Amino acid sequence: MKVAVIGAAGGIGQALALLLKNNLPAGSDLALYDIAPVTPGVAADLSHIPTPVSVVGFSGQDPTPALEGADVVLISAGVARKPGMDRADLFNVNAGIVKSLAEKIAVVCPKACVGIITNPVNTTVAIAADVLKKAGVYDKRRLFGVTTLDVIRSETFVGQLKGLDPTQLDVPVIGGHSGVTILPLLSQVKGVEFTSEEIASLTTRIQNAGTEVVEAKAGGGSATLSMGQAACRFGLSLVRALQGEANVVECAYVEGSGEHTRFFAQPVKLGTEGIEEVLDYGVLSEFERASLDDMLETLSGDIAKGEEFAK
Ligand code: APR
Repeated sequence: MKVAVIGAAGGIGQALALLLKNNLPAGSDLALYDIAPVTPGVAADLSHIPTPVSVVGFSGQDPTPALEGADVVLISAGVARKPGMDRADLFNVNAGIVKSLAEKIAVVCPKACVGIITNPVNTTVAIAADVLKKAGVYDKRRLFGVTTLDVIRSETFVGQLKGLDPTQLDVPVIGGHSGVTILPLLSQVKGVEFTSEEIASLTTRIQNAGTEVVEAKAGGGSATLSMGQAACRFGLSLVRALQGEANVVECAYVEGSGEHTRFFAQPVKLGTEGIEEVLDYGVLSEFERASLDDMLETLSGDIAKGEEFAK
C-alpha cells in the first residue's frame, strides 16, 4: 500500500507521518507532500526510524510525485484555527487548497481512497466530491471526511467520567465535524449509564473539544497530535480493509443514502474498494433525535456552501 500525506510538514501532517511510519504494515510506502521546503527533510528525518516502511518527501507546487500510485491519500493541507475562529472561518483559504488538490487527484490517482482532514470538513468534502465528479472520476465509496477525532475524544471523555479504560469503549459519532453537527451517540455506549445532565454536558464538551485545544494553544494553532492519532487510526483501518481484512468499521463523513443530508458521518464498513456498506446508526435516544433535527439546517448549509464553491 502507498499512503500519501498532503500537508505533511504541518502540525497534523508531521504527527500523522510519524505514526504511519511506525504503524503501517511492513512493505508499505509513505509519501509526504507539502508546499513547505522542509518536507524532504521531514521524510529524511523519519527515514532514520527502523521500521519496514519506506518514506519519501516532496515539496514545491506539484503534488504529483507523492500522489502517483497512491492507494490512500490523507489531506491536512491548509491553515489552522486561531482563538476566536470557528472552522467555517477557514473556508476561504482551505476551500481553494482542497479544490486544487482534488483536481490533481482526479488526474494522478483517481482510484485512491481520499481522507479529508482539512477543515471545515463539512464543506471541504463536498468540494472534493464535486471536483472529482466534474472530472468524471467520483466514486462515493472512496471519499471520506475524517471525523475520527470526535470518536477518540468521546472515548477519552467517557472513560474519564466513568473511570473506564477508554481503549475498551466504542462511541459512535454521527452528523458532521463542527459544533452542533457533532453528535456522539452516548446512548449506545455498551455497559455505561449516564444521567441526562451527564449526557448534556458530555455532548457539549465533545462538540467544543477543538476549541478547548485552540484556546489552550493561545494562538499557536489547533489540535495536531490528537488529530494525527485520529487520522492514523482511520488510515490504518482503511489500509487493513483495502488489504482484505473483514469487519473493519469506522465512523466517517461520507455520501450515503442522503436520508438526512447528502454527506453525513456515521459508521461505515470498509472493504477492498473503500466503503463496503454505510451502516445504520441504530436507535437514537430522544435527546439524540432532537439534537439531530436541530443540526440538519447547519449541516445542509455547510454542504451547500461547498457545492456552490465547486461550481
Ligand atoms: N499543498 C500542500 N500543503 C499545503 C498547501 C497546499 N496547497 N497549503 C498549505 N499547505 C501546508 C502548509 O505548508 C502547512 O505545512 O499545510 C500545512 C498545514 O499545517 P499547519 O499550519 O501546522 O496546520 P495543521 O494544524 O496541521 O492543520 C491543517 O487541518 O484540521 C485541519 O483545521 C485544520 O484545516 C486545518 C488543517
